[in-house]
Amino acid sequence: MFLPEGIKRLVMDESCQVDDIGMSEASVLLFGDKVLKVQEQNEEAENEYGMMRYLQGKLPVPTILAHETVGGKSYLLMRRCPGQMACAHEYMTDPVTQCRMLADGLKRLWSTDISDCPFDQRLIHKLEQARYNVEHGLVDLDNVEPDTFGEKGFRDSEALLQWLYDNRPQEEPVLSHGDFCLPNIFGAGETVTGYIDLGKTGIADKWCDIALCYRSLSHNYSGRYHGTDAYADLDDMRLFRELGIEPDWEKIRYYILLDELF
Ligand SMILES: Nc1ncnc2c1ncn2[C@@H]1O[C@H](COP(=O)(O)OP(=O)(O)OP(=O)(O)O)[C@@H](O)[C@H]1O
Ligand SMILES: [Mg+2]
Repeated sequence: MFLPEGIKRLVMDESCQVDDIGMSEASVLLFGDKVLKVQEQNEEAENEYGMMRYLQGKLPVPTILAHETVGGKSYLLMRRCPGQMACAHEYMTDPVTQCRMLADGLKRLWSTDISDCPFDQRLIHKLEQARYNVEHGLVDLDNVEPDTFGEKGFRDSEALLQWLYDNRPQEEPVLSHGDFCLPNIFGAGETVTGYIDLGKTGIADKWCDIALCYRSLSHNYSGRYHGTDAYADLDDMRLFRELGIEPDWEKIRYYILLDELF
């Protein structure tokens, strides 16, 4: 793979492994203690680099080692996060520690000062991006929840978009990760050690991350990624007990539906 000279120099002689967890077009190369993320240079890549820079020293995000944009691609070289992903076997078999760690991850985001946060991901912007995706055929209809469309769901992505415009919840703005799924959160025991994949991070409603965290827990426990019924017994309420809040199922449903258009 082509690497810009500045980056090549920093990873010289280190052997690497290609990560195959992510679902995006990004390529992630894992070196000894460094990670190189190569992706199309677009708004999301810019957002990821901007937020990672903004959050250095504020939250556990990877230290940035180098960033270059060459030939329409963004190359972000960062430190490898300590700990392990929230979907690692050790966490999946210890749901108490897992949910405490995830709750720690959410609460630390919520207590971060957002007064000078450079990116705004509130609904006024998200719905415009969703509209763009719908109008340009960018919605991945093969990767949606089973009931979103079809007999029990929406007619098509236009109908879902209209519903999302008509049913906007009251937002509680916090720092939101934006894609708070288990492979994007690293931890050690009950403590978060790394937030990664920050392309959608910015100011947004706190229920956005709660919803995607809940959906990711459900998917990981259902065996969707780990093989049939590998971890069948998710306690739906555990995350909310750890957060000390009652689930607002309407808002959770809203943000899961919104994410279908991305
Ligand atoms: N700094 C890091 N430290 C350790 N592992 C990392 C780091 N960055 C990425 N990874 C590994 O690579 C995987 C993919 O990286 P990332 O989530 O940034 O991209 P992606 O998943 O391809 O993007 P998307 O989630 O938008 O599809 C992560 O789930 C993680 O396993
Ligand atoms: Mg990811």
